Amino acid sequence: MREGPATVIRREDYAAPAYWIRSVELTFDLDPAKTIVASRLTVERHADAAPGAPLVLHGDGLVLLRCLADGESVSFRQDDGLLVIDNPPDQPSFTLEIRNTCAPEKNTQLSGLYTSGGGFFTQCEAEGFRRITYFLDRPDVMAVYTVTLRADKAKYPVLLSNGNLLEQADLPNGRHMAKWHDPFPKPSYLFALVAADLVCREQRITARNGKEHLLQVHVRRGDLDKTEHAMNALIASVAWDEARFGLPLDLERFMVVAVGDFNMGAMENKGLNIFNTKYVLASPATATDDDFAGIESVVAHEYFHNWTGNRITCRDWFQLSLKEGLTVYRDQEFSMDMAGSASARAVLRIDAVRNLRAVQFPEDAGPMAHPVRPDSYSEINNFYTATVYEKGAEVVRMMATLVGRAGFRAGMDLYFQRHDGQAVTCDDFAQAIADANPGSALASHLGHFKQWYAQAGTPRLQARGSYNEAARRYTLTLRQSGAPSPGQPEKQPGLVPVLMGLVAADDGRALPLKLEGEAQATGTERVLVLTEAEQTFTFVNVEAPPVPSLLRGFSAPVTLDDGLDDAALLVLLQHDADAFNRWEAGQRLSLGRLLAALPGDADLPPLDDAYLQALRRVLRDDTLDPAFKDQVLQLPSEVYVAEVVGSEVNPQRIHRLREQLRGQLASALRDDWVWAFEAHQVREGYRPNAAQAGQRALANQALRMLVLDAVASGDTVWPGRAYQRFKDAGNMTDRFGALSALVDAQSPLAEPALARFHALFAGDDLVIDKWFNLQATANEPASGGGLQRVKALMQHADFSLKNPNRARALLSGFCRDNPAAFHRTDAAGYVFWADRVLELDAINPQLAARLARAMDRWRALAEPWRSAAREAVARVAAAPRLSDDVREIVTKALDS
Ligand code: TRP
Ligand code: ZN
Repeated sequence: MREGPATVIRREDYAAPAYWIRSVELTFDLDPAKTIVASRLTVERHADAAPGAPLVLHGDGLVLLRCLADGESVSFRQDDGLLVIDNPPDQPSFTLEIRNTCAPEKNTQLSGLYTSGGGFFTQCEAEGFRRITYFLDRPDVMAVYTVTLRADKAKYPVLLSNGNLLEQADLPNGRHMAKWHDPFPKPSYLFALVAADLVCREQRITARNGKEHLLQVHVRRGDLDKTEHAMNALIASVAWDEARFGLPLDLERFMVVAVGDFNMGAMENKGLNIFNTKYVLASPATATDDDFAGIESVVAHEYFHNWTGNRITCRDWFQLSLKEGLTVYRDQEFSMDMAGSASARAVLRIDAVRNLRAVQFPEDAGPMAHPVRPDSYSEINNFYTATVYEKGAEVVRMMATLVGRAGFRAGMDLYFQRHDGQAVTCDDFAQAIADANPGSALASHLGHFKQWYAQAGTPRLQARGSYNEAARRYTLTLRQSGAPSPGQPEKQPGLVPVLMGLVAADDGRALPLKLEGEAQATGTERVLVLTEAEQTFTFVNVEAPPVPSLLRGFSAPVTLDDGLDDAALLVLLQHDADAFNRWEAGQRLSLGRLLAALPGDADLPPLDDAYLQALRRVLRDDTLDPAFKDQVLQLPSEVYVAEVVGSEVNPQRIHRLREQLRGQLASALRDDWVWAFEAHQVREGYRPNAAQAGQRALANQALRMLVLDAVASGDTVWPGRAYQRFKDAGNMTDRFGALSALVDAQSPLAEPALARFHALFAGDDLVIDKWFNLQATANEPASGGGLQRVKALMQHADFSLKNPNRARALLSGFCRDNPAAFHRTDAAGYVFWADRVLELDAINPQLAARLARAMDRWRALAEPWRSAAREAVARVAAAPRLSDDVREIVTKALDS
């Protein structure tokens, strides 16, 4: 917390440190109120630094007890988060001994060393290590760590740190100790310790190379029966990385620990991953299919960081996407390989793109817009964003598209060959992929491609085609452009890979693709590489009028304007060989109906038969997987519609029209929904696999529509059936699906069902989070009421602002995921937001800053929302005490 403006860190200012730290010996005397940390550092002067140059260490909220250099006391000064030793020994290397204390139980920020559920846990990324002891807390300083933990044995029977266990012993006064050594040099952000009363599931595995490893999942007593899925995901991740990328597990022991208070999803500390319980604990009775899938992907993500992040790390935090974009790409590929069928892969791709559009596109169009590799920040925690992660993953995916699967593997091999053990930049990664693929479009246009790292904003791709029937030629003109973003008024053309095909307008067959000048057709699908602002591609021997199917699989993170009319979209929805584009055509048909109705105040007109028939045909098509049908029938979200509208957004109007569209689909397809519900009941025992999950998803969507239609028409049969299903369900996916259907339709049975749900799962934190979140995101009725409910829930005995999962479930649920309830015409939603951001900022700035981002897009709102929103943001910005985290978000929101 500080007053006045925060300092801005710039990428161009990067300089290597004057000193390296080669090894670290840490001893912790753990005590919740006052933990003593003794640190012994081997410091080595940088070859370029002057002898005796000042040694500047980071330190945040610590009490310094002692500081010795080569055993002698040395003078130092403390200056705004820094410990400056003006006259260190002028030898090339020396030993620094530091003793300090910190206060874990007072650490509500959950960065550094903190307590949770009676145990000790750490979170050091990005800059938390300096809250434990004084250090060169930057990722290019890599050291070998040896760590001794001492603590009360009864309270903290399990003592863990990175690497291998060297020794363990009892100490006087009921205390005990453990000593750990991690042979791999690592940056401080990968340090971790855990001291707690935990139990663990263990599994020994033998790798392809014959080496044995011990895998452990540590959880609180009572949670062991919820760790099987996480362990299976870990085993599968180890096998996958070896098989697909030739990357083996490099440690004898790999540990996962779950903690109930955690700011993010999980953390890849070397050999000791620490997880939010949400991404470890699951049983069929308490977790939904989505939860199971989330666990699988986060376990994989953290495990994959062992190579992409830990073995090769980031030179500085501007390079964050080097590890995050690449690791998200890898976990997405893993999930797709695990899902199996082409259709299941497409469903995962659709999910990823939905998420990109719902979160990253708005970010890229708002005040926090930044390149995948940002140029500046004031608080690095604010840059763990959808742009760095998800758009970063798209950038890696485009490289893979351009060089092919084998080419990408060769590029990865070269990347590890060159940089294993180093702290590097995004340039080093792109260079390795390009160098391994000479002659590829990536290598020939690497400069253009790297605009993806440099330019913020979602590029726009315009496509216009014309068919000359007589000449059987089809010309396709592609244009790329980019809107200004903060600090970037002009955009340069980049490289856009456009995976495409041509679909015959008459019968939907895939047409052979032959560009003018080519000797023969090269199949029915290819990548067009756009590097200029405008390029025209001429296809010859096109035997029928085509509908272009562009950007298949979402081959680049752009917004596409292809000018296709409904007739063309209907062709693609029915026939496109690319499942992603089939889905996309369906979304565009739905979106078109909403956008057309938006001006004025009239109700949504009755839906046309062609559209209804097309959706019905998808729903009834037995060649399609249920999961895919579920995706096609799911309407674009209110947030996505608002982004497409772009300015003068009326959130209430969007909500009303979308609800009317849903209502019409519920009633027009009523018999089809009944069929879908009945035909997609899973009879076998619960398995969280893609096939079963798809059936449940479609049945749940059908149930939701049936209850919605029934409540609207005063019928009580389907609400009754939903209530029954809610009571009798054998798994959480079905139980929560039925409960959500009742809440969504505002059925009178919703209240009793909610009460029953709470009673049934009282004390199960992750399930109670769902209970809070469901109410926070509940479909807002015309009469309002969501805000009152959320305010009442804040008074509930189970609510706590200190627990991030709980605070997020209720507050982000309401402010970020329930636009109709949040954007009230009386501005009360905004007043509530401002109050909560300020309240949370005093407890946990990282979390407060995330909540603060609910207002990013205030400028796109119509009046009266825009003025009221600006006022609320200005009130937060004017608060006398504000963290750097929240200050950066609100000042950018006001200045943009
Ligand atoms: N590196 C982590 C991941 O992507 C992210 C993370 C976990 C994090 N905890 C954090 C980032 C706290 C910033 C602050 O898997
Ligand atoms: Zn990550």
